[in-house]
Amino acid sequence: MKVTSDVEPNLTILETPRLRLRRTRHPDIPSLIALWTDPEVTRHMGGPREESLLTRVFTEAAEDPFAERYDLWPVEEKITGEVIGDCGLLQKEIEGVNEIELVYVIARSRWGRGYATEMAEALKQYAVETLGHKRLVALVDPENTASERVAKKIGMQLEKEVVRPGGDIRRLFVLEDA
Ligand SMILES: CC(C)(COP(=O)(O)OP(=O)(O)OC[C@H]1O[C@@H](n2cnc3c(N)ncnc32)[C@H](O)[C@@H]1OP(=O)(O)O)[C@@H](O)C(=O)NCCC(=O)NCCS
Repeated sequence: MKVTSDVEPNLTILETPRLRLRRTRHPDIPSLIALWTDPEVTRHMGGPREESLLTRVFTEAAEDPFAERYDLWPVEEKITGEVIGDCGLLQKEIEGVNEIELVYVIARSRWGRGYATEMAEALKQYAVETLGHKRLVALVDPENTASERVAKKIGMQLEKEVVRPGGDIRRLFVLEDA
């Protein structure tokens, strides 16, 4: 009888033609840190994060990759095997309502190739078909034109503007009865 305990677990959440979304592994950590400390990438997302905090959070995720049902996960570019983004679904309370937020973050070197749209579309399907959600939202900085384009391209519509804790204004894009 084959003992299966030494078989590497399948970390893949979903695949698109060019990208793979999968749970965090230790070798992903430097790329994820580079992403979240980049001032341009984080400009509309609260600014660069503390490296020590990122190291702790990503190490915890790599040590227990199945711990969270809702999270951001590394995006692997299939052709290079490099981690070029961090995308996923988060549970968030927005103006007193529990929402599922679709989040997409792509490394600057890969902007403009359609990767965010490709991953957002796949995550939308995953949220609706696999997890059974009927409503998804995206919170977009009014100055973040690229992010707004992605939300609209996957069929989201502007519902209203909301004020986040801390005072930032965000456009709430919504996909209803998905
Ligand atoms: C927003 C982001 C994810 C878009 O990633 P991307 O892979 O470059 O997006 P895509 O290539 O799929 O392009 C999506 C659309 O945005 C447009 N776009 C891209 N960059 C743009 C820019 N700087 N200004 C205006 N439009 C832009 C593209 O032209 C495309 O629209 P089109 O098909 O109508 O031409 C990426 O810029 C990013 O990671 N930004 C930092 C993190 C962030 O702000 N995430 C959003 C949080 S809600």
